[in-house]
Amino acid sequence: MLKIAIIGGGYVGLVSAACFAEFGVSVMVAETDPARLDRLRRGEIPIYEPGLDPLVERNRAAGRLGFTGRIEEAIAGAEAVFIAVGTPSRRGGGHADLSYVFAAAEQVLAALDHPTVLVTKSTVPVGTGRRLAALAAARRPELAIDVASNPEFLREGSAIGDFMRPDRVVVGAETERAREVLRALYRPLNLIETPILITGLETAELIKYAANAFLAMKVTFINEMADLCEAVGADVHGVARGMGLDRRIGAKFLHPGPGFGGSCFPKDTLALARIAQDARAPSRLTEAVVAVNDARKAGLGRRVLDAAGGSVRGMRVAVLGLAFKPETDDMRDSPAIPLIEALADDGADIIAYDPAAMAAAKPLLPAAVRYAETAEAAIEGAAVLVAVTEWNEFRALAPAWLAARMQGRLIVDLRNIFDPAAIRAAGFVYHGVGRGSVSQLAANPEFEQDFEQDREFSDG
Ligand code: UDX
Repeated sequence: MLKIAIIGGGYVGLVSAACFAEFGVSVMVAETDPARLDRLRRGEIPIYEPGLDPLVERNRAAGRLGFTGRIEEAIAGAEAVFIAVGTPSRRGGGHADLSYVFAAAEQVLAALDHPTVLVTKSTVPVGTGRRLAALAAARRPELAIDVASNPEFLREGSAIGDFMRPDRVVVGAETERAREVLRALYRPLNLIETPILITGLETAELIKYAANAFLAMKVTFINEMADLCEAVGADVHGVARGMGLDRRIGAKFLHPGPGFGGSCFPKDTLALARIAQDARAPSRLTEAVVAVNDARKAGLGRRVLDAAGGSVRGMRVAVLGLAFKPETDDMRDSPAIPLIEALADDGADIIAYDPAAMAAAKPLLPAAVRYAETAEAAIEGAAVLVAVTEWNEFRALAPAWLAARMQGRLIVDLRNIFDPAAIRAAGFVYHGVGRGSVSQLAANPEFEQDFEQDREFSDG
């Protein structure tokens, strides 16, 4: 049985460890935080990820997955050592903070007693693999240590499926042994014909950033188009569908919303912008994506205030969805945070609900916010309903039911989860994202004029 170590029992480390174990590999996870280690050893999973608990349980029981606080125990006999510690944004600038990566590497190098492949799983700036190789050669010249890059593309909420059935696996490896070990680890994916792309170190490192920035750009682009749709009376879903049917564009990641958040897109777009600036090959598009998305999130409160006629002071506002997306409890860079802060600043009486993220949200939101046990309880008596994430249980709320429970008649749907016609038929004023309608044209005489002119031109 192949044996590997994973340094870091956080999100990426834990998911990767459980999935490699499921592939039949013997995996030891080293976790330095004693409280977290304790929970892992008791079989408690400290993160919310559908399917992860049974996977960890099954592989622990089979003896393929273990947790330890001692790096030397984790790496004993390991043919590959994966570094899966955090790389948060460094304060003031947005460069990735590599202190955890290098601290982990130093510990691994100090404890190693055999040749191995040192693999970065964490998202690291281009050039980090090369630096790690130099460090390994300096610290342990007597051992043959190969460095490889194996970026992850896991989405929170569907990470297990993404690991088990990926579109591709990217491996940056420049020695035959490193390539061999990584190919062997991913061998079960040969059965489903997953492409394993083997590249140099820098290329693999850049693929991760480029892929995330491109996806973030797609989201940001459709968000801008959504605003334009509202201004000109178009429907963003029609625009997205019409664009997405062109296979060169593709239909995914064209759903408009409150702006992207989470543990990856915000930090990776910022880091890529910095990497490119440092390399004197600036990526103006990536810089614009960061700025446009930041502005969008900062303007969410204003959107709700405008919909409410200028202010929500004293109004009971039900906020559904707190994490940056459904099926996760991750609050990192969640659009709900600036939104709720703005509503609280304006004096709203906020009652919030999220199916998974309430505990994580509380320390990050203003003290005045109240929390409901269910979506139904949040909605009861509310003047305004703001939907921030697209959990299925929110989609399922029937318009007539909402009308019976709410006191007010305003719905701001930042994810377009409701059917505008049905919501309006139930007596609500409905604001979605980018769902302009022709009736809005009439409300915008200036546009009407342009429109007339266009028609004249096209009529020749
Ligand atoms: C992402 C990448 O998908 C993954 O490959 C990478 O490794 C980590 O970052 P994740 O952060 O879990 O995964 O979330 P994802 O589902 O990709 O969504 C990212 C953000 O974009 C969320 O805020 C989401 O709400 C937003 N989004 C996504 C949209 O607003 N519209 C879309 O159409 C798609």
